[in-house]
Amino acid sequence: MYLSREEEAVYQGERGETLRRMMEILVALGDIYGAERLVPVKSVQIAGVSYKNIGEAGLEWISDLQGCVVVPSILNPAGMDLCRWQEMGVSEDFAEKQQQTIEAYRRLGITIDCTCTPYQIYQGLAGPGDHLAWSESSAVSYANSVIGARTNREGGPSALAAALVGKTALYGYHLDENRLPTHLVEVEADLHGSDYGALGFLVGRIVKDGVPFFRLPGQRPSPDELKALGAAMAASGSVALYYVQDVTPRPPAGGGQPEETLHLDRKEIAEVYARFPAEGADAVALGCPHCSAEELERIAGLLQGQKVQKELWVCTARKIAEANPGRVAAIEKSGAHVFCDTCMVVSPATERFSRMLTCSGKALSYLPGLAGVKAGLGSLEDCINAALGRQQ
Ligand code: F3S
Repeated sequence: MYLSREEEAVYQGERGETLRRMMEILVALGDIYGAERLVPVKSVQIAGVSYKNIGEAGLEWISDLQGCVVVPSILNPAGMDLCRWQEMGVSEDFAEKQQQTIEAYRRLGITIDCTCTPYQIYQGLAGPGDHLAWSESSAVSYANSVIGARTNREGGPSALAAALVGKTALYGYHLDENRLPTHLVEVEADLHGSDYGALGFLVGRIVKDGVPFFRLPGQRPSPDELKALGAAMAASGSVALYYVQDVTPRPPAGGGQPEETLHLDRKEIAEVYARFPAEGADAVALGCPHCSAEELERIAGLLQGQKVQKELWVCTARKIAEANPGRVAAIEKSGAHVFCDTCMVVSPATERFSRMLTCSGKALSYLPGLAGVKAGLGSLEDCINAALGRQQ
């Protein structure tokens, strides 16, 4: 891979040991994936924040780094609400380790916003055509597909390397040739809310790491519905880029027709709900990916004047919660919890539940494997009804 004189100096250790190690990671990835050169990135989103996932070895690795990030850099969700962790049922030992992890990142100049929806809180992190180094799979999908930016799905170390160097290797989704649709997905169904998670759950399993191009006649998915669709495909498969005709930015010119076509309708969507029924949940989890202000508003409206009978978690970014105190208060008046900085998948606190109901196709995929909790899928209304103790 070509390196400029300055990049070569970093690689040779002339700018210090941390930068040498970071450049080594970028060059190794570039060599593996055939990158010609590095490219500057506009922002970085770093995974590997929950102490549950990184453990002591990860904490030591991060703590060992010196220096300061050179581009705006924020974090993925941590293993707990950084202020209200006791309320979640997180142990003191875990909380101490989690705080040490956060401090290690803070020392590197990283903004302590722990969220998988950075695009909901900072408009300037990503725009059409911008190169990024983001980690969290749903954020990557949203950046590539809805914003029209360009990012691979970075691991924690490679994202941190990009943050400290300000560049990433130019391969994968940074290049037009890898942004062409591989599957045409024709969907004949009236879709709302969690249906997009169910659709994504189905399509991700089929296309795996492909690039689906959706035709959804008569449908105009909202940003939150696109967020749900991309998140589910990233979890059930490893889709990092998709298109929706007349809704998202278009694919690069010259790709021709995708080789494979899928036809899906209401029957297939209904089968996903039937396979993961809403009944039998001992807790309800919303906010995967993290809730937007509009989603908080809807949840507050559905809960109004009522008391939950089951534990209900609503996960969001701290900045979204702080900007919407009335909505948060209205949700919490019902006895539900609005937790920030974390989520049901990366927090160890979830492990005390046996079955959670969610309206997210991504949580549906990840709760069993990553949190050891069975999962059911329902609409937002089903989830709220279950939390209120109403029969389904
Ligand atoms: Fe975000 Fe956690 Fe879901 S990181 S996308 S809320 S699994």
